[in-house]
Amino acid sequence: MGELLILNGSPRAPRSHSRRLADLAAGCWKGNTVCRDILGADLNGLCAETGRASHVLLVFPLYADALPVPLLKFLTALEESPPQSRPVVSVLINCGFLEPHQNDVAVEMVRLFCRQNGYPLGSALKIGSGEAILDTPFRFLVSRQVRRLVRSMSRGACRTFSVTMPLTRRQFVSASTAYWLRYGRSRGVTKSQMETMDIEPDGP
Ligand SMILES: Cc1cc2nc3c(=O)[nH]c(=O)nc-3n(C[C@H](O)[C@H](O)[C@H](O)COP(=O)(O)O)c2cc1C
Repeated sequence: MGELLILNGSPRAPRSHSRRLADLAAGCWKGNTVCRDILGADLNGLCAETGRASHVLLVFPLYADALPVPLLKFLTALEESPPQSRPVVSVLINCGFLEPHQNDVAVEMVRLFCRQNGYPLGSALKIGSGEAILDTPFRFLVSRQVRRLVRSMSRGACRTFSVTMPLTRRQFVSASTAYWLRYGRSRGVTKSQMETMDIEPDGP
C-alpha cells in the first residue's frame, strides 16, 4: 500500500474545508498516512517528504479558477528541488460554486505539472457547492466519493470523480446566501462587512 502524504494547499489551512476533506481521505487509506499543511511549512522539508512517499494527495480549494498560492509555491519548490523518487500524485479539489467542472482547469494544471516533471498521474476528485456540504444531509455523498477516490488511488488507477449538492442553481444560491449570512451573524459580522475586500484580517 505504501505511504500516503496528504498536503493541504489551502491559504487558511488550519480552519479550512480542505483540512476536513484531508482528514476524511486519511481515514480511508489503509497504509501509513502523513498530513501536512503547506501554509507555513518548510518547503524543502516537504519536498524531501514527497520523495519518501509512494502517493501524494494534493487537497486544495479553487482560487480564481486556478491553484491557491501555497500550492503554487510548493510546486515551484518541487520543480527546483526534485526528489529522486517520484510518488503518484492525486488531487482532491473543492470550490465555492455549485458545478464541480469549475475545477477542471486547476486539475489540468496539476496534471501538466506532473507530466512535465515526471510524476505518475493518480486519480482526482472534484467537489462543487462550497464548504457547507460536509455540514448538510449531503455529507454522505462527499464521504462516498472520497472513499472511491482513495480506493482508486490504492489500486494505482487514474480515474476522475466529482460530486456536488443535488440542488438547482437557484436553490443553491438561496441556501448558500442564507448559510453565509447565518455564519457571519454567529461571528458578529454583518452582510455589509462581508461585502468588503477584507479577507480574514485577523487570520493566520
Ligand atoms: C480569494 C478566493 C477566490 C476564490 N475563487 C473561487 C473560484 O474561482 N471559483 C469557485 O468556485 N470558488 C472560489 N472560491 C471559493 C473557495 O474555493 C471555497 O470557499 C473553498 O471551499 C474554500 O476551501 P478551503 O476552506 O479549503 O480554503 C474562492 C475563495 C476565495 C477566498
